[in-house]
Amino acid sequence: MKNILVISASPRKGGNSDVLCDEFIKGAQQAGHKVEKIFLRNFKVNYCTGCGVCNSTHKCVQKDDMAEIMDKMVNADVIVFATPVYFYTMDAQLKTLIDRTVPRYTEMVNKEVYYILTAADTNAANLEKTVESIRGFTLDCLDGAVEKGILYGTGVWDKGEVQSSAHMKTAYEMGLHS
Ligand SMILES: Cc1cc2nc3c(=O)[nH]c(=O)nc-3n(C[C@H](O)[C@H](O)[C@H](O)COP(=O)(O)O)c2cc1C
Repeated sequence: MKNILVISASPRKGGNSDVLCDEFIKGAQQAGHKVEKIFLRNFKVNYCTGCGVCNSTHKCVQKDDMAEIMDKMVNADVIVFATPVYFYTMDAQLKTLIDRTVPRYTEMVNKEVYYILTAADTNAANLEKTVESIRGFTLDCLDGAVEKGILYGTGVWDKGEVQSSAHMKTAYEMGLHS
């Protein structure tokens, strides 16, 4: 049994990447894992101000939901990062969260990571810049991070459009084998 944290960064309730998160979760639960989803739109995460205080204290001076989210990230065995592609990169919600991990990212060791991306683009190759942007955090900054799966949720624009796509099954099976 693994402890899986799903970070869902779509600003849209019923958004495509969030729908795929739920499919991944169904599969992961079927496999017997413990799963928790953080739907970022329901949390308050301010920008990192670069004040530098956390370099010595390992705590952020800001009082919002990031301390709780960081606890969950440190404790998870698996972290799923789900984001819509916005101008060839992750959305601002996910980037804002990543920037706020400075106080404790060195404690986020040996994580298995997954990425769930959704985009209007039908060519998965065009999502590589987004993958690379997330890797700048996971593979370049987290000790022992291992990439376990990437879901290229191509060809979806409207909210919920993904429901009728083959990506649903891919997401479920990714969760099932997580
Ligand atoms: C601000 C903005 C920028 C976008 N940029 C891209 C892009 O660069 N490439 C792309 O394929 N789709 C782009 N899209 C489309 C979204 O990625 C697509 O609608 C996706 O399904 C949204 O996922 P969500 O429903 O989980 O929020 C953009 C949409 C918005 C609102």
